[in-house]
Amino acid sequence: MTDDAHPASRGVGVVVVAAGSGSRLGAEVPKAFVPLAGRALLQWAVEPVRHLEGLASLVLAVPPGYEDPGHPAWQGGWLPASAVLVAGGAERTASVAAGLAALDAACDVVLVHDAARCLTPVAVFERVVAAVRAGADGVVPGVAVVDTVKTVDSHGFVTGTPDRASLRAVQTPQGFRRAVLDAAHASGLAATDDAALVERAGHRVLVVEGDALAFKVTTADDLARAEGLVADGLVAVPHTGRS
Ligand code: CTP
Ligand code: MG
Repeated sequence: MTDDAHPASRGVGVVVVAAGSGSRLGAEVPKAFVPLAGRALLQWAVEPVRHLEGLASLVLAVPPGYEDPGHPAWQGGWLPASAVLVAGGAERTASVAAGLAALDAACDVVLVHDAARCLTPVAVFERVVAAVRAGADGVVPGVAVVDTVKTVDSHGFVTGTPDRASLRAVQTPQGFRRAVLDAAHASGLAATDDAALVERAGHRVLVVEGDALAFKVTTADDLARAEGLVADGLVAVPHTGRS
């Protein structure tokens, strides 16, 4: 719950997780630092956050060693001056937890975003924040699934065909009331997304409309797709220089 008697506790905190190695991409540097049209994926990912209304705190969870602001990866002055750098962990969940621990107290809404979803439009961030502000404990952007999906057993035999109309492929940023996400992470359990921890804790999570541009760069093909979208002028190029 927001508390109007304590306006200092109203604000949006954003944790961008960027500490993965990018083993499936197979580049020489961690995935968040791989260039896309000459700028690190992380710079693209941070760009919409800079434009987010109500932003109170921005934390980047980065590979160990990169939390030093003198690291060569930060050359060029694009890192927002207010951003806090922390070393991530061995699993995504641990990187989120490290980021949450460094968020400013003055946020009652927290967004967790994958650096690898580097072309996510600011409108997706805004939809997620609005739905949390409207009362949801947890909110995830999602898109309809185009393939028919099967569940299988350990031998590969089909055990079921879920109704496609009830499926959503979910993206980030995922948004939560801060107290809800903090408590879910305090469980010490791991999951591939934060909503799963919040669901397990018994909270309802709402899906809002995602965006095709919020796809995750996982493989070299995905990076080529992102390069094509930038070359075609379909995404805004990040601003350079300190803010
Ligand atoms: N991530 C993280 N800390 C980890 C693992 C992942 O902060 N220990 C972040 C990644 O940097 C990425 C997001 O979580 O922004 C989604 O993870 P994924 O796409 O799987 O990235 P990687 O783990 O880096 O890639 P791979 O699984 O191919 O190694
Ligand atoms: Mg991974």
